[in-house]
Amino acid sequence: MPKKNDASEFFVETLNAWFARSGRDLPWRHDSTPYQVWVSELMLQQTQVETVKPYYARWMESFPDLETLARAPIEEVMRLWAGLGYYRRARYLHEGARYLVEKCGGQFPGDMAGLRRIPGVGAYTAGAIGSFAFGWNVAAVDGNVERVLARYFGIEESVSSGSGRAALVEVADRVASVGHASSVNQAMMDLGAGMCGRRARCDGCPLESRCFARVHGCADRLPCKKARADKDDEYRAAMVMHADDGTVWIARRREGALLGGLWEFPMVRLWRGAHGEASDTEVFERPRGAQWRAIWGEGMRWRDTGLRVDHVFTHIRMKVAIDEGRGASCTGEPEAAWLERALGSEYETPVRVSVEEIPRSYAVSSLMSKILAAYAAHPKRAVLACGQ
Ligand code: ADE
Repeated sequence: MPKKNDASEFFVETLNAWFARSGRDLPWRHDSTPYQVWVSELMLQQTQVETVKPYYARWMESFPDLETLARAPIEEVMRLWAGLGYYRRARYLHEGARYLVEKCGGQFPGDMAGLRRIPGVGAYTAGAIGSFAFGWNVAAVDGNVERVLARYFGIEESVSSGSGRAALVEVADRVASVGHASSVNQAMMDLGAGMCGRRARCDGCPLESRCFARVHGCADRLPCKKARADKDDEYRAAMVMHADDGTVWIARRREGALLGGLWEFPMVRLWRGAHGEASDTEVFERPRGAQWRAIWGEGMRWRDTGLRVDHVFTHIRMKVAIDEGRGASCTGEPEAAWLERALGSEYETPVRVSVEEIPRSYAVSSLMSKILAAYAAHPKRAVLACGQ
C-alpha cells in the first residue's frame, strides 16, 4: 500500500499562491459580503457558473441587500429565479432573508453554529460564507472540492459511505486549519471545475508533483462513489386547454410539491406498468382520454400533438407528452373555482391567459419553458382550436 500524501502545508501554500495568480474572476468574488456569498452559493448549487452569472446580476439589481429581499413578495423572487431550477433554493433565500432581518437584526451571525441556523444553510454554505466573507479558516466541501481532496490525499474509500465521508471531512478540516482557507477553498473549486474535473488533465496542475492520484495513476478512480441507481423515468401528459377566446389554462403547483409555486399546463401522470418494461411510445399511446375527461368534463375534445419533452430533475427523468384540447366544461362561470376542484391536490388558482403572456408574467420551471417552446413551434397548433 503506497504511503498517503499528508502534505497539507505544501497543499495550502501552493494553492494560495496559485489562486492569487490563476483564480477565476467571478462577479461574486469582487466584493464578498456575506449576503453576496450566500446568494451566489445557493445559485451555484447544482448549477454551472456560466448559467448563474446573468441570474446573479439580475438578482443583485433587484435585491441588493437582505432588507430588500426580505420585503419582496415571493412571486417576485420566484420570477427572478425562473429557469434556474431547484426552486427550493429561491424559497430558502427568501425565508433566510426574513429570518435574518426579523431574528438577527439584519446581520449574518458571527459563528458557524449561527450561520447553520439560517434556513437552507448546511455545512457547505456555512463554510463558504465563513471562509469567503468572514475570512475564517473553515472548510467548505462541495463536489469539486471533494474531487481535489480525494485525489491529492488519496482517499480511496467510497465518499458516499459514512467512514469515507468522515475521512474527507477530517482532511478538509486539517487543510482549513493550516490557513488561507478563503483562497484555498476557492482554488479547489476552480481546479475541480477545470483540470481536476471528472476527467483529470493533470499537466500544468500546481499540485501535480505530490498528488497521490497523479503519482499512482488512479485519478479516474477517485473519488470512489458507490454505484448510484439510474435515474427513474416518470411520464406525464400536459394539457394545453384552449378556451373559445384563444386563451389557454395554466395553474400553479401547490407549495410543498416538486416545483411548488410555479405555473404550468396542468399535467396528469402516465403509468409505465408494473415491471417498467414498456417503451416510451407504448406509454404515450395508451388511452388517456378518461384521465382528461375526469378533469375537463365529458364534453371536452383533445388530441395528442405528438410533441415530446424530456427534462432531468435530481433523481428522475421526466418525459412529457403535449396534448391540446377544447370544449372544457369549465369555460362557463365560475370556471376557475370549478377547475381548481377538478385539478385536485397538485394545483391551485387556475387562470386563462394567452400563450405569449405566460413567460412574460408567470414564474415557470425549465420543464414548462421547454413545453412552451415546443408548443410555440408546433406547426399544427390551433387545428383543434379551429374546430376540426
Ligand atoms: N461553485 C460553488 N461555489 C463556487 C464559487 N464560489 N466559485 C466558483 N465555483 C463555485
